[in-house]
Amino acid sequence: MKICFIVAMQAEAQPFIDRFGVSEAPGFFLPLPCKMYQTDIDGNKLYVVLNGQQQGSDLVGCEAASVATMAAIQQLHPDLVINSGTCGAFKKNGAAIGDVYISNGVMFHDRRVPGDDAWGTQSLGNYPIFDRAAEIANAIGFKMGKVTTGSSLDMQPCDLQIIEENHGELKDMEGAAVAFVCSLFKTPIMLIKSVTDLCDESAETFEIFKKNLAMASHAIADANEKVINYLLKKS
Ligand code: ADE
Repeated sequence: MKICFIVAMQAEAQPFIDRFGVSEAPGFFLPLPCKMYQTDIDGNKLYVVLNGQQQGSDLVGCEAASVATMAAIQQLHPDLVINSGTCGAFKKNGAAIGDVYISNGVMFHDRRVPGDDAWGTQSLGNYPIFDRAAEIANAIGFKMGKVTTGSSLDMQPCDLQIIEENHGELKDMEGAAVAFVCSLFKTPIMLIKSVTDLCDESAETFEIFKKNLAMASHAIADANEKVINYLLKKS
């Protein structure tokens, strides 16, 4: 089996990279900025693809995630894509900082195309999720929730309205873009997210995100390891 993780930030991926001892294939995606790490696990392939950097900082967001996912699928031909990373969540839904979720749905929350027509529906996305996601979440004991994706770390009232109308629970900046590309290639995708901040608790999102990033990234490494072991039937 070939499993490819798509991760936006180096800091989010580093504990996972260290845990699995994946090694970098420098320049693999040139001229794209994406970075590729790989290792073999009992005849299976584990790839970790990062969006890469521009102007000295990690390329977070949908455009970079789309490029990384498309390059990864075309060049690595994974059987499964896993978008793992951090997210915001909602205290009112019972979320706590450091919680790990597996997503049971994924869509955009900041694409407002007026009207209730096909265009509006297409803009929101609602892409298919790996059909074993619920089985994996139940087996490992992770919560499940719907990821909604937007291009901003902050949340405007119009974002919240769409999130609430669509029962979104986890707010990120890449998930739906990764899932969009996977839908085009019919590559199964699952999303594993850990919570750095609570969108309904404080408006100081960036400060709280930075404070909790290292802890949440370790939680993600633990979660990713459990999912890999489950998929590859390792104890
Ligand atoms: N990543 C971590 N926290 C986030 C938030 N509140 N919104 C979007 N992406 C995030």
